[in-house]
Amino acid sequence: MLFKASKVVLEDLPYAHNALEPYIGEKTLQIHHGKHHARYVTVANEMIKGTDLESADVETIVRQSFGKNQALFNNAGQAFNHDFYWKSMKPNGGGKPTGKLADLINKDFGSYEKFREEFVKAAVTAFGSGWAWLSWTPNGLKVRIGSFILLCLILSATIYRLGFSNYWSK
Ligand SMILES: [Fe+2]
Repeated sequence: MLFKASKVVLEDLPYAHNALEPYIGEKTLQIHHGKHHARYVTVANEMIKGTDLESADVETIVRQSFGKNQALFNNAGQAFNHDFYWKSMKPNGGGKPTGKLADLINKDFGSYEKFREEFVKAAVTAFGSGWAWLSWTPNGLKVRIGSFILLCLILSATIYRLGFSNYWSK
């Protein structure tokens, strides 16, 4: 599935809040989507109101604010990141990539295991929430930020705590 950016909106999740259990708990999804992601959408829209970017899609807003308006870049970027993240998962999903993506990973990283190690390391060592991206570039697949994004991984202390507290409340 190709990801098509739209305006900065909070779309409904493409699955129920409890659909990703036991990996991501219902309470975690409710708060992460309905409050955390929603806040980025609200703030980004407040910041573009009355500007030339008011009717722009989120990708344009991120590109145009880069290096010029850090607060808008952060909020629109996080709105985009979260939207992409939700659409990257599905109930009973997961597993190793197959087909063309698997071929490219094997070609550019040597093996799925080596890619996974680099991908997790990038997320663990990233400052803040720990977004890591598998990106397509003209020079092959890279783990980094930017370019044509294929896959994302987020490691967050907040998400961990929510999931952990939810686990203990059972
Ligand atoms: Fe988040």
